[in-house]
Amino acid sequence: MDEAATRVLLSELGASLFARGFSVGSAGNISVRLPDGYLMTPTNSSLGRLDPVRLSKLDLNFQHTGGDKPSKEVFMHRAFYQAREDAGAVVHLHSTQATAVSCLPDVDPSNPIPPLTPYFVMRVGRTMPVIPYYRPGDAAMEPAIHAAARNARAILLANHGPVVSGKTLTDAVYAAEELEEAAKLFLMLRGQSPRLLNAAQVNDLLTAFG
Ligand code: 13P
Repeated sequence: MDEAATRVLLSELGASLFARGFSVGSAGNISVRLPDGYLMTPTNSSLGRLDPVRLSKLDLNFQHTGGDKPSKEVFMHRAFYQAREDAGAVVHLHSTQATAVSCLPDVDPSNPIPPLTPYFVMRVGRTMPVIPYYRPGDAAMEPAIHAAARNARAILLANHGPVVSGKTLTDAVYAAEELEEAAKLFLMLRGQSPRLLNAAQVNDLLTAFG
């Protein structure tokens, strides 16, 4: 897909996420890796009203080269791209249920949501660690995200929200949506003893679907 088509797709997916309540106000940011750099949503922009031609363009060193001023979370996206060669896109949301899980003090910080459904495992993977709280835009969180992203396609920022990577932009958005659904199920089932996928079933999914 060329850059012009990627700009249109990013704007369409942002509008779709916004229309379905995965993002409100100016929350969230999305980026895509290109051969010559990155596209990123501008800071303070609504995912519901992105203009393809005004998306921020960054060079391979994450320096702003075109479009509106990029998200203040550039370093969050950079941490994923530098930790994961397979990351072609990164989606950060404040989606309600995943953010609710990020506020729970009594979950396993190395993997707060257990393997409840196949699509959560297939899209998000085996683990999704919680990173301690940092102020939005605080570049001090970059080393923690980088370390966690080496072993995980997605993370939860404590009291803030999810950051999800994918091989493609569409994959990253689908993973962010599956994560939100898994968080919803996890919260619905809290205090009960749901049947989880066992280790063999998780391994089978990851072998079959990567
Ligand atoms: P930006 O508007 O700078 O992208 O920040 C939004 C956000 O979600 C902060 O975490």
